[in-house]
Amino acid sequence: MPSEPLAAGAWHGRAPGRVNLIGEHVDYLGGVVLPAAIDRYTEVWGRPAGEWSVDSAVPGGLAYVRAVAAELGAGPQAVRIESDVPPGAGVSSSAALLVAVAAGLAPSIDGKKAALLCQRAEHRATGVRVGVMDQFAAALGRRGHALLLDCATLDYEEVPFPEQIAIAVIESGEHRSLAATPYNERRREAESGDPRRRRHVDSEIARVHSFVSALRDGDFTRMGLLLNESHRSLREDFEVSTPAVDALVETACESPGCYGARIMGAGFGGSVIALVDRARTSEFEHSIGRPVLFCSTADGAFVRERP
Ligand code: GLA
Repeated sequence: MPSEPLAAGAWHGRAPGRVNLIGEHVDYLGGVVLPAAIDRYTEVWGRPAGEWSVDSAVPGGLAYVRAVAAELGAGPQAVRIESDVPPGAGVSSSAALLVAVAAGLAPSIDGKKAALLCQRAEHRATGVRVGVMDQFAAALGRRGHALLLDCATLDYEEVPFPEQIAIAVIESGEHRSLAATPYNERRREAESGDPRRRRHVDSEIARVHSFVSALRDGDFTRMGLLLNESHRSLREDFEVSTPAVDALVETACESPGCYGARIMGAGFGGSVIALVDRARTSEFEHSIGRPVLFCSTADGAFVRERP
């Protein structure tokens, strides 16, 4: 947070990364998804300037910042970015950046509107026709909850997420920028009704509903099984996994305290999400043998305090 008041015209925004518990590759088809904002944040400070500049430890942010500014009709800015949302780790550092800029430049707009404009900004910046899930979670996620989001209507419900479960994100080490993956191709195939791709989409949407029932019942074993089924479907029917990710999912599933695991996000490498008994996180990490990002749910940038 800024330690001093902002100068006239200067702005500051902050937004979290996200995980997706279940509902993968269905957002751009108007399906239902269950993401949550997480306790890792991107902060952006800016002020109007004669030309664009971005000061950031992570390269590549300028296209995103400019795209949000373009959506909001803002001119060139001098911008500084700080973030503990790891890039390329599948926790949507791009959505965190987009939404942080929107929150800084237009703090009073509605959260849904912010999510939609950030989605358009991502299309503009990358040419990848992403759905609205990541930006929505970064804007309107709620601490202690996951968001059951209907991507056709943007209606959503906050579903309580239990403290006893740690959300573990494990990087596969295979990182590709979305623009370099067949993401748009998969989207086209699913939109044009390819039977195998549709089988994933329809079964995944059913799994989201089953997962939410299991979550409400506190049935962690069932939640884990649904994650495992989701992975199978993403691997076999949607074909967005890789052998390295499959191996990691298997290791995670066999590790102590793990209820279930699957590939998360766009795929083609990237990360695995596992749900782990919070009392057994050290055993779990030890068994995985590589760094695990344990996260908790958090508030999105456009969440208003409850009265
Ligand atoms: C990326 C996109 C999302 C969504 C996921 C796959 O994270 O940004 O819109 O399509 O992939 O579920």
